[in-house]
Amino acid sequence: MDRCLDVRVLAVWGLCLAVASGAAAGDTTAGDRPKRTPDSVYVPTPDDVVAKMLEVVGVTKNDLVYDPGCGDGRIVVTAAKKYGCRGVGIELSPKLVREARANAIRNDVADRVQILEEDIYAVDMSPATVVTLYLLPGMNVKLIPQLQKLKPGARIVAHDYGFQGCVEDAQKTFTVTSKQDAVRHQIYLWTAPLQVKSP
Ligand SMILES: C[S@@+](CC[C@H](N)C(=O)[O-])C[C@H]1O[C@@H](n2cnc3c(N)ncnc32)[C@H](O)[C@@H]1O
Repeated sequence: MDRCLDVRVLAVWGLCLAVASGAAAGDTTAGDRPKRTPDSVYVPTPDDVVAKMLEVVGVTKNDLVYDPGCGDGRIVVTAAKKYGCRGVGIELSPKLVREARANAIRNDVADRVQILEEDIYAVDMSPATVVTLYLLPGMNVKLIPQLQKLKPGARIVAHDYGFQGCVEDAQKTFTVTSKQDAVRHQIYLWTAPLQVKSP
């Protein structure tokens, strides 16, 4: 990955973390408190990058798309709406879970999209045929044991961060400049079984 892009994106995430910490200290109501502290802040993937991720990973109506750390559910909702597939979003923040479920209802895909209020590391993702990732690199690495249980042929598409060199290089890489934030976004593709590099 482009190191400048890496530093810039991590800086934005860091800024969001600072803002989120302030919000958590002052504004969070008891009902909004997650079961445990999420491992990252919420930074949504711009819609045009979502569209490109779903296009390059080749989603069809037969797919079951999992988005661990789904935020407002935009990836699974867009996939279900555009391609007619099923989706599962996993999110720790109760507020975002509510937003994601409302998003699915608003887009008429609530019958095909399930939003789980869970820790991504506690969910069996082996039924997925597509996994979408927009998490910090260390989080992706921690997900490797779960991703190794995907069926052969399942696809993994990651936004901006890979697996810190712990798995084979991505089979394909794309760069998209989003019209929404004018930033260059990287998209990486793998197909299961994920080849983990020996240390
Ligand atoms: C960078 S955002 C990505 C949101 C969405 N996937 C997208 O691309 O628009 C990461 C999300 O992961 C959630 N998250 C972080 N750690 C988590 C965990 N252990 N279990 C479930 N969700 C988590 C955060 O609350 C946040 O909404």
